[in-house]
Amino acid sequence: QVNEEKRIWTEKHVKATLPKRDATSHKGSYGIALLIAGTKEMPGAALLAGLGAMRSGVGKLVIATETEAVAMIVPRLPEATFLPDGLKKIAQRQSSVDTFRAGAIGPGTEPDDLTEKAIQVLLESHLPVVLDAGALSERSYPYRLSPIILTPHLAEFSRITGVEVDDLQKNRTYYAAHWSKKLGATIVLKGSNTVISFPDGETWMNSTGNSALAKGGTGDTLTGMILGMLCCHSNWRHAVLNAVYLHGACADEWINTRSAHTMLAHEVSDLLPVVWGRFD
Ligand code: APR
Ligand code: MG
Repeated sequence: QVNEEKRIWTEKHVKATLPKRDATSHKGSYGIALLIAGTKEMPGAALLAGLGAMRSGVGKLVIATETEAVAMIVPRLPEATFLPDGLKKIAQRQSSVDTFRAGAIGPGTEPDDLTEKAIQVLLESHLPVVLDAGALSERSYPYRLSPIILTPHLAEFSRITGVEVDDLQKNRTYYAAHWSKKLGATIVLKGSNTVISFPDGETWMNSTGNSALAKGGTGDTLTGMILGMLCCHSNWRHAVLNAVYLHGACADEWINTRSAHTMLAHEVSDLLPVVWGRFD
């Protein structure tokens, strides 16, 4: 039996759940996030997710990416550090993931054997794990204490469930809740009115966002934001919900004065300081 009751995550919820940045905190207070993303062909996905993460409260960010991608990312995000050829090192267990507070994998990566192995390593760890894009394949998940968060758009959701896109589209809330429970993973089903379903049946619909987000790269930004929020929130559910809300709220801020046709994915991260600032 799937609980289909759905509520709307609003400004009121965000105000009540966003963390404060403690005056005596230091970078260690907010942990180190691990982002496994990007290839030499798709370095931009790692950059976009990295910007989203570093604007979302982490202490430090390590980007595991192909060596060739590092030089492209550094000039736009000098605050990040790197694990060159990190996907391979993590997949082959040459590099431990135990020191991280949270991990995300998939933006700009291929759904291949190395990715699958790295996902297994993450799932065996204690980290909350975000799986997006190239990390979204049909599989089952082990029972674990830390959350598994999947962030599919409709086509990716169809790929991991085998359900036709048309069916999913007509019953987004039902399918998100059903598969969240079945897989034991949180599902962030993206699109207009993103649905967030937790494995125990708790389901929310997001109230922000608009068609300015319908552009390549905005999903990568969201993955980074969820990763960052996981590091600064004590309640991981609030981290996921607030990341989705603020991501949409940045797009809403954009269309106050600018055309929805024109927003770029990295500009979501540019707007986040002001949008988040309204809730502090
Ligand atoms: N209204 C509100 N939000 C929207 C709308 C809309 N009309 N259209 C898109 N969005 C939001 C989604 O909710 C989501 O947060 O924009 C984001 C788009 O994310 P993705 O669909 O993942 O798009 P993208 O960023 O281009 O992803 C690129 O994902 O599909 C893979 O292989 C692809 O690596 C690539 C990556
Ligand atoms: Mg995507």
